[in-house]
Amino acid sequence: MTLSIRLDERTALITGGGSGLGLAIAEVLHAQGAAVAILGRTEGKLKAAADQIGSDSDRVLTLTADVTDDAAVAEALTKADEWRGGLDILVNSAAPLLVNSALSEVDERVMTDAFDGKAAGYLRVSRAALPYLRESNNGRIINIAGMAAHVLVPGIGVAAAVNAAVVALTSYFAAEAAEHGVLVNGISPGMTLTQVWKDRHAAMAEQNNSTPDSVRDGMVERLGIRLGRWAQPEEIAAAALFLASDLSSYVTGQVLQIDGGLGKSVI
Ligand SMILES: NC(=O)c1ccc[n+]([C@@H]2O[C@H](COP(=O)([O-])OP(=O)(O)OC[C@H]3O[C@@H](n4cnc5c(N)ncnc54)[C@H](OP(=O)(O)O)[C@@H]3O)[C@@H](O)[C@H]2O)c1
Repeated sequence: MTLSIRLDERTALITGGGSGLGLAIAEVLHAQGAAVAILGRTEGKLKAAADQIGSDSDRVLTLTADVTDDAAVAEALTKADEWRGGLDILVNSAAPLLVNSALSEVDERVMTDAFDGKAAGYLRVSRAALPYLRESNNGRIINIAGMAAHVLVPGIGVAAAVNAAVVALTSYFAAEAAEHGVLVNGISPGMTLTQVWKDRHAAMAEQNNSTPDSVRDGMVERLGIRLGRWAQPEEIAAAALFLASDLSSYVTGQVLQIDGGLGKSVI
């Protein structure tokens, strides 16, 4: 048995691939030889992301679609499959922005929208992708959940509930897809320094008359992140590369917690 981290000749579809973790994952898979199709709602953002991944590359495709729309998802999957004659890897990372609110004060609609945009979105895309992935000898689905599903992070109960649904979905979809040889796993990232968080830190710093770095350090302290810092997106993408590659050939139904020790902070 020859094991390799390389992804030559494989095609990946990454939802939410226009920014943040999705983009970091697309870059890492592309660097290991995969052709990457990135999907999101905003064409300009996808084009800029495609340039960042490799403007001279014929291994990058942009697909404009909304994961809450079944017909748009079906059309995007057909295009992704036709692009290079097959689909091997699906990464679900598309999600609405984090809602920061006590659950006792949150409108029910906010919860259902968050669920529809992330957990149900992952299901829609996975369901549409399965017929293509089972034709691959290396079929993979990788769902980006979140550490709020596993530990209590104050103020983000909506994300916690949605990510818990993603964890359950991962394990049940893995059981159903196993007979087709498709491995389904997830990643729960801890606090990861994407652009969305950088913008949020800048706004918080302005409000508190402090700096983005001290806002970040304060959160590390409050949440008790053992490694004492935020994750870089590439550190989450590294786990996605493992799950996409032959190195994970006997792994399914798992959710890797890549959190710098956040999950172990309260004992
Ligand atoms: N960053 C963290 O610390 C962290 C921690 C735990 C979990 N996560 C999870 O990681 C994933 C990525 O988050 P991120 O930080 O990278 O945020 P991000 O930069 O906002 O990425 C989300 C992407 O999803 C796309 N998207 C949103 N709604 C969509 C829809 N209905 N249809 C298609 N595309 C849609 C967005 O593009 P458009 O708006 O242009 O469509 C955007 O490019 C999310 O699932 C998030 O919950 C992040």
